[in-house]
Amino acid sequence: MPAPPDWLDLVRCPACGAELAAGDASLDCVACGVAHPVHAGLPWLYRDVAGSRAQWAAKLQRFRTELLADLDELDAAVARDDLVDSTRERLARQRAGTERFGEQVMALLAPFAFEHGEAGAVLPTDRIPSAQHVTSYLETAYRDWAWGEAEIDETMALATPLVGEGAERILVLGGGAGRFAWELARRAPDAIVVQLDLNPLLTRIGALASAGESTALTELPRFPLSVEDAVVDHTLERPSETANAPVFLLGDAFAPPFADETFDLLVTPWFVDIVPEAFPSLATRLARRLAPGGRWVGFGPLSFERQDPADRLTPEEVVDVLDASGWEVLQAGTETVRYLHSPHAMPRRNEEIFAFEARRPAVLGDVAPFAFYPTWMTDPRQPIPADPRFESLRAERIFDVEILKCIDGRTTIEDLVVILASQYGLAEDRCRATVERFFARWFEDEGSGGR
Ligand SMILES: C[S@@+](CC[C@H](N)C(=O)[O-])C[C@H]1O[C@@H](n2cnc3c(N)ncnc32)[C@H](O)[C@@H]1O
Repeated sequence: MPAPPDWLDLVRCPACGAELAAGDASLDCVACGVAHPVHAGLPWLYRDVAGSRAQWAAKLQRFRTELLADLDELDAAVARDDLVDSTRERLARQRAGTERFGEQVMALLAPFAFEHGEAGAVLPTDRIPSAQHVTSYLETAYRDWAWGEAEIDETMALATPLVGEGAERILVLGGGAGRFAWELARRAPDAIVVQLDLNPLLTRIGALASAGESTALTELPRFPLSVEDAVVDHTLERPSETANAPVFLLGDAFAPPFADETFDLLVTPWFVDIVPEAFPSLATRLARRLAPGGRWVGFGPLSFERQDPADRLTPEEVVDVLDASGWEVLQAGTETVRYLHSPHAMPRRNEEIFAFEARRPAVLGDVAPFAFYPTWMTDPRQPIPADPRFESLRAERIFDVEILKCIDGRTTIEDLVVILASQYGLAEDRCRATVERFFARWFEDEGSGGR
């Protein structure tokens, strides 16, 4: 019998597509020579190594800044003299828990050695969306490895019949803290299960749990069930030993470190609606990951947060898009499951999950490389299009800087109205409406009014 392929045989340089060879602490492209660092056993397989590191370094810096702001806010809150004792106790616990949480996150990310101000392009083509923060989807890590089995069992009961049996090379895209990839590996002891995700914190948590290590991570529910539940010190760990475990890789599904037609099963849990590409071209792009006859199993909500109403598809439309692009839909349906039911939090939401299994189109469609930004933003020599939205933005914002310049602790709204009216020769009523709108927007977006 031929030896089973090593996972390294399945990965390719995300920049040029050539094979990667294992170096001392990196995977090195045999053709273009790019060295992809391996930190704590996790290969960094972004196409633009420096640019992606710079982005995560900046995200980590933002995490630190926000953590310090949270601590200041808690200090100020706990110092108030109008609190009942239980509120003071909760705030003191949250203060200590937040500090502990910050230290745990920094320790988990320490192996990546992100440094403040790492050099990188300002508008990198391989942009990691700003919606993806260091701690995005962190609740999934507690669900995966700390809250018990009920929610996992529910989702696996839905996913298992779709996954079926017999797949030998399985790719999980956007697997986050890794529980689904781990479950797939547990159920298929001879398969190679590869998980690719953008997020270094979730990936490290998943890799540690999957390897049988314990991770201390404090949960700080935003709306705790009780004062006691405001800070919960968890130990994240796998529920049992397994004969097989996933391989955890860091990288971007839009510049994936794999050759075309590598896998016989692609799994996307809670993924297709959070990425910045419309479903029809995403489906054509993802087909390239699969070998002929390969299957795609997707499950999760269809909450497409997209500007274009045509892109906010219902389950029925998703099936039609798959049909129209040559996929053979084998199973599809919706079911209600609980989602992120922390035993320590007030909110308990259920989600309607759409799940499907589809066989790859016989012929792969062409799809252009995905670019997050339009080319006029990443190529500074191209003209900026005269989009009418810029004009309406100008009209809306023209007074913003003038107003901000006048704020000095003494100026009143009435003073501002007089200043703007004389500066721009406008009627005072119009200026008053502008100034009031400015502060209302500020209060609702930035001030305490929106909280
Ligand atoms: C909604 S979470 C779901 C996490 C996990 N699948 C689950 O169900 O708990 C989406 C995941 O996709 C990852 N992700 C987002 N964009 C990605 C991309 N372009 N390439 C790889 N992973 C991505 C995020 O880091 C996150 O882990």
